[in-house]
Amino acid sequence: MYHNNRFYSVLHRLLMVLLLFAVLVNAAIGQKISDSSSDKILSKRQVAFDPRAVTINGERQLIISGEMHYARSPRELWPQLLDRSVALGINCVATYIFWDFHEPQKNVYDFSGQRDIGYFLKLCQERGLNVILRMGPYCCAEWNFGGYPSYLRDEPGITLRTYNAPYMNRVEKYFEHLAAELRPYLASKGGPVILVQVENEYANVAKRYGEEGQRYLKWVVELASRVGIDVQKITCEGGAEGAIECVNGHSIPFDRSARHQQNKQDQPLIWTELWPAWYNTWGYQQHLRDGRNIAFHIMNFIGNDGSGWNYYMWHGGTNFGRTAFYLQTTSYDFDAPIDEYGRATLKGLYLARLHKMVSKNSELLLSGKRNQEILASGIRKTTWTNGKESMTLLVNETDHNCTEGSFTLVPRSAVLKDSEGNTLFDSQVDFQTAQAQIKFPDWRKLVTPQNWQAWKEPMPKSRGEDVVKNETPIEQLSLTLDKSDYCWYSSSFKTAISGQQKINITYGGDFFYIYLDGKLVTQSQPPIPENRGVTMPEDPAHPYVFANSLEELKLQGFKHQFILKDVVAGTHRIDILATALGLIKGDWNISGSMNTERKGIWQDVLINDKILTNWEMRPFLSGEQLNIPNQHKVVSWAKSVVPTPCTWYIANFSVPRDVLQSDADFRVDASGLGKGMMFVNGNMLGRYWLIDANGYGADESWHNKAQDGLSLAPGGQPSQRYYHVPKAWLKEFNQIILFEEQLATPEKVSLQSRIIK
Ligand code: GAL
Repeated sequence: MYHNNRFYSVLHRLLMVLLLFAVLVNAAIGQKISDSSSDKILSKRQVAFDPRAVTINGERQLIISGEMHYARSPRELWPQLLDRSVALGINCVATYIFWDFHEPQKNVYDFSGQRDIGYFLKLCQERGLNVILRMGPYCCAEWNFGGYPSYLRDEPGITLRTYNAPYMNRVEKYFEHLAAELRPYLASKGGPVILVQVENEYANVAKRYGEEGQRYLKWVVELASRVGIDVQKITCEGGAEGAIECVNGHSIPFDRSARHQQNKQDQPLIWTELWPAWYNTWGYQQHLRDGRNIAFHIMNFIGNDGSGWNYYMWHGGTNFGRTAFYLQTTSYDFDAPIDEYGRATLKGLYLARLHKMVSKNSELLLSGKRNQEILASGIRKTTWTNGKESMTLLVNETDHNCTEGSFTLVPRSAVLKDSEGNTLFDSQVDFQTAQAQIKFPDWRKLVTPQNWQAWKEPMPKSRGEDVVKNETPIEQLSLTLDKSDYCWYSSSFKTAISGQQKINITYGGDFFYIYLDGKLVTQSQPPIPENRGVTMPEDPAHPYVFANSLEELKLQGFKHQFILKDVVAGTHRIDILATALGLIKGDWNISGSMNTERKGIWQDVLINDKILTNWEMRPFLSGEQLNIPNQHKVVSWAKSVVPTPCTWYIANFSVPRDVLQSDADFRVDASGLGKGMMFVNGNMLGRYWLIDANGYGADESWHNKAQDGLSLAPGGQPSQRYYHVPKAWLKEFNQIILFEEQLATPEKVSLQSRIIK
């Protein structure tokens, strides 16, 4: 028994040892396997730079980057977007990180689902794409409040974008949360993120914030490192110690490259924002840009020693919900190489040809001996040689033909040739080739929503006690905290004589409807300028400081006048519906610090030049308070649809299963509508506005249209007629809900699809 016990005990021990050994071996093998795979993925990548290029583990990199904002495209589309980008030959992706997207409420941080930046970075990594992260805290980007959470505006004692404790405390807290998400994806940990941009175009505001501003810029770059963002920092248009300063523009002509390189002799020349057209605003024509011009400028930039560029935007996407900045349309297509729906455009296919050629020859471009001269014809000739091979770039920067012997270059064009004189890329010829290749299915009407019903948004008079009363009007954002575009302002006035009455809002934004005794009588008249001047009268103790030329326009964009016709003598009720069009994106929109952003009415309203008092404010629509888009049953809908302003509409539509299962894109044709908000299955597609684009272009005098191949789409049609509906939001049976501010015919609305065979 004893023997037996010993025997078993020894056996048991032996087995245990064997087992342990097996576990260890197994773990080791497992470990080894995962080690070797993670070695591959997770080996550190050392990002540095020399005057010629950014280097990774000592190797110079030609950065061909495309910007897309994960916040502006449905998560379900991210994999395809990245696959298509790889197919078009880019090797890097850039994205802004919008602070308000990750801190939707003060102290509530969200990095899940659509906000899962880690997942986006992982997808980039899986495809071998490098990433440039533009982490803010300020972004710009035609995003609401330039990416800042709107609550910052109301923090006591705050001034944004400068050395200000209330502001910096919030930045610090956010950066700590953000960095925890980003750290695993940094090149220093073997991840895809090679460069991190801090702040954005600080030069635009530097004059306003002086030395404090520079101190802040230095602080914020250091903060990024302090929270563990240990990869190379960059800034654009405004530099900070230790960061590579990059340039932005439609083009970076020779003089600018030369000047920049002179000032930054130890740094490579990187173009952080190459604008392939421009964003679009309500009431203005769409911006377009010729792809040939883009390729020409890229080639010119390479010739002038540029070693990296980032298309801003490469894929613009959509401003879903209320994410668009003031005046920005819901579409953020940008006439970009990949369109709003995620499909390659002619521009994309064409630029892909350039990407292929320059990538193939990147070593020669970045390490070959470069020589540049201007030929007698005016052509700029750049040659790269490395002893074994050479490459020649011929560029015509002028606006006339340049001829060398039998060879002619048309204005603003470029040709790249190899050692044997074979053409590698020709900005004109390759465009024609790409044009011949592109085939794209048309959009077709798929279905018209049926059974429209209506619910009239209650007028303020019938909203009872849900009211804030004050002698003077109270500014809208302090009431809505930017959770709604809407706020009613109500008062009454007495007139002794019948006839015309004049109403002046001395400071107000953005777009107003004037109701007299419950009836809509007039409204704001476009055009609405993008840069509107100051939000406050000048205080002699604190004179205005203008930071750039856009601010010096001193526009009167917050002043409004309305004429009420044929008003009979007596007492009248006046209700003003203030509608916001998004928060500004930068100081220059209001010629002052962003925290002086205002909506609604915040100074006197005059009736026939007399101040109107006793105001009632009703923030939010009743329909918003009832959450109609998600709980439509809370109100009783009227079956017959008689158009009235300020009305909610609901209808149903179905999408055939085979269409849903196909590779297809969807959009709403909003013909028949006026202005408002649109929801599909509870998701807000965005603001809509069928306002005519009449090409008011005054704010854009700084665009060099001819040099940069810019043009405008024809006017006389809505700035935006079509609204992107992500496929992921559609089902077989769907519901569409509108809030319409004006008179509309919703029966004209339809859903269109584009099915890719
Ligand atoms: C730049 C800015 C970007 C974006 C762009 C225009 O000046 O840095 O964030 O706003 O203009 O689309």
